[in-house]
Amino acid sequence: MKKERNYALLSHNTFGIPVRCNTFVEYETIEELRMVLEELRATPNEPFLHIGAGSNLLFLSDYKGTILHSAIKGVEIVEEDEDTVSVCVGAGVVWDDFVAEAVMRGWYGIENLSLIPGEVGASAVQNIGAYGVEVEEVIETVATIAVADGTERLFSHADCDYGYRQSVFKNALKGQYIVTSVTYRLNKKFCPNYRYVALQREVEQRNLLSTATAEDIRRIVIEVRNAKLPDPKEQGNAGSFFMNPVIKHEKFVDLHGRYPDMPSFPAQNGVKVPAAWLIEQAGWKGKSLARAGVHSKQALVLVNLGGATGAEIQALCQAVQQAVQEKFGILLKPEVNFIST
Ligand code: EPU
Repeated sequence: MKKERNYALLSHNTFGIPVRCNTFVEYETIEELRMVLEELRATPNEPFLHIGAGSNLLFLSDYKGTILHSAIKGVEIVEEDEDTVSVCVGAGVVWDDFVAEAVMRGWYGIENLSLIPGEVGASAVQNIGAYGVEVEEVIETVATIAVADGTERLFSHADCDYGYRQSVFKNALKGQYIVTSVTYRLNKKFCPNYRYVALQREVEQRNLLSTATAEDIRRIVIEVRNAKLPDPKEQGNAGSFFMNPVIKHEKFVDLHGRYPDMPSFPAQNGVKVPAAWLIEQAGWKGKSLARAGVHSKQALVLVNLGGATGAEIQALCQAVQQAVQEKFGILLKPEVNFIST
């Protein structure tokens, strides 16, 4: 187990904010996690926060407490039949390493989720999604440890209460359980998923529509992501900064009357409108405020233009929210978590 005091978090947040925490703990086993939680229970005034790869966080200041990080690894087949395989993966495995391994071993269903930053534990908390797939579609169970008493609890798919970028771990049970592993059920027969029409077009353009393999899909998704999304190593960012808002049907009809070009997608309780479009129409694409900017190729991504503080990114967030609210009457909700102590 790694335990360090006054620890620099620069490499643990993809926004590249140079903050520190009082204590940083990285554990490798469930037993070590239990020990850490016991110590934390003995110091109830010490706040703590569990992070993954820090690709969905915005630190507003130094963290005056303990940051926990999982280094639980391992990819293990737990069940297999002719058509599917169930694979249990440690929470600390890098998500895209797992996607690469799955494609290589002939396990299909997550190739559209290639190159999403982050780790396996967070995939189940955040219900990561891209190019027509949400990870909940392949999640079978989520193994956790209760913060209150260190006991194990296995969540079924239904227990996780998944929605668009939502789960029980972010809502009703927030902060109460730590994910230790996730079991995914993947297909052994490959069937490309073209629910996201723009991906199908990319495949078509490469003349691969009738022959595309999972490797092809993975490669194309990576190409598309790299073309649109800034590499956090070059320019700090946390992917989509906001969630795409879901608005009521009546509101959509009204807005669509005024803005006939407004793109939209059907959603569970209304109509989903791309936040990137709203931000672009509100005039913020490619614009900046202090050292924080709206990415010029994808308006949903806020970037650290170099040396930005968390407060500067937050100020840009608020300016964008205000502009979209004034023009469209829609409040954009950040997908990124703001952290302060
Ligand atoms: N658009 C604009 N301006 C832009 C970018 C996009 O008007 O600058 C419009 C276009 O009409 C486009 C639509 O927005 O058709 C949707 O854009 P895009 O397909 O790029 O996806 P998104 O809705 O902006 C979501 C996810 C991404 C994911 C992509 C692809 C959220 C919050 N974001 O973005 O996830 O990669 O779809 O499936 O749902 C992330 O969560 O960090 C992330 C990158």
